[in-house]
Amino acid sequence: MSASIYPENAVPPSSSSGSLPSWRSSVTFNMRVDQDDQEVALAGMLRPFVGDQMRAIRGTLETAAKNATGELTLDFKRLKYMNNVAFLEINRFVRWAVEERPNLKIRLIISSVIPWAMRKFQVMEELYPNVSVEVYDKALYPIQSVIEDEDFVRVLRTQEKIVYNHERKILHRHGLRPGMKVADIGCGLGDFAVRLNAEYKPEYVTAVDHSRAFLKHAQAHARSLGIENIEYQYGDAAALLIPDDSFDFVSCRLAIQVFHMPDQLMKELCRICKPGGRVYITNEMLACVTGYPDQDLIRMGYRRYLELSRMVGMDFDIGVRTRDLLANAGLEDIRSDLIDINNMNTDPNNFAKVVESWIKFCGDVAASASADPVIFEEIGIGLRAHVSAILSDKGYANWPILAGSGRKPERLMR
Ligand SMILES: C[S@@+](CC[C@H](N)C(=O)[O-])C[C@H]1O[C@@H](n2cnc3c(N)ncnc32)[C@H](O)[C@@H]1O
Repeated sequence: MSASIYPENAVPPSSSSGSLPSWRSSVTFNMRVDQDDQEVALAGMLRPFVGDQMRAIRGTLETAAKNATGELTLDFKRLKYMNNVAFLEINRFVRWAVEERPNLKIRLIISSVIPWAMRKFQVMEELYPNVSVEVYDKALYPIQSVIEDEDFVRVLRTQEKIVYNHERKILHRHGLRPGMKVADIGCGLGDFAVRLNAEYKPEYVTAVDHSRAFLKHAQAHARSLGIENIEYQYGDAAALLIPDDSFDFVSCRLAIQVFHMPDQLMKELCRICKPGGRVYITNEMLACVTGYPDQDLIRMGYRRYLELSRMVGMDFDIGVRTRDLLANAGLEDIRSDLIDINNMNTDPNNFAKVVESWIKFCGDVAASASADPVIFEEIGIGLRAHVSAILSDKGYANWPILAGSGRKPERLMR
């Protein structure tokens, strides 16, 4: 069966009451119906004054429910805003479907971007046994609370500074120029946006992260510096609420490695990049960490670290796939650089602090994954050996990160 695509629709507030300001009412949406996958995906803003403004959406949902067998998925994870009128209309549709098609299961996928609606949708699940509700971005980053810890935040700032000191020399080669519209996805504490704002003078930077705690730090930091052209947004990197072809330069640094669907994330980065613009990514290669003395212990520690992180859907060695990720996403003119951080080109005390924080991080991850305690013990031994090597006058210790970028072609073939 073929899929029908509804283009961006803007339904004017034709039936809204004349006494209410019309700018507050808008129903702007994009709807995709895939009959093979029995799925309706709805993106955009649903802010009607009256239910009638949702007529087109109701009609499509009802047709999909009549045609579906077994299970119908309503994918609302890209809905950016929804008011109560819209919610009630969707609820009316669900009630209708439950009565008309009692054997049909309805799977609703929503996003925590609209927190008030999340609770209401969950009530729907309690009311109707055939309805299940999934919060799409809730479990994406299982160790989120671990890294939001205040101690870790301090180390993340140090880590960010260490990496940027190396990165600043290569960003020009990856296409960053003054005056560009830049997006930084998985921005963490937002320091990258602040630093490149000072050095590269972009027109503006939109920085997105999934952590409200980090965004708060980022916003406070930018405010304290009087910066006005950086916008920090809450969002899910794999389903960004950003239109296609929006930015000249899209960066995603040390974030693909903590995400269990790297190719999906790459697709989103490419989608929001303008044709001719560049997507820039960095990721660690922890299987290549080495040092002296105690090279064997260090290598064993990082092998175990990788094992543990993969248990929770992260891959801290995905840096080796950099060129492959960029090429698979359909990008061209691929460039890559090794960011070779080591104890001879970086302040060893700061470097050691970062590695020490990873030991704590691994302890928390091991606990959340109920991992065999031996794994954490071996990680501790290996990473402590790494710290000793970093601080040793005669020692050597590295931390390799691969940076890469590709240009989005005029027509992205995937
Ligand atoms: C290791 S930190 C890197 C932060 C920053 N880019 C840097 O280089 O310091 C990974 C970041 O990715 C964010 N992140 C993870 N999954 C995400 C998702 N699905 N959507 C948005 N951000 C996400 C985390 O909240 C975290 O801030």
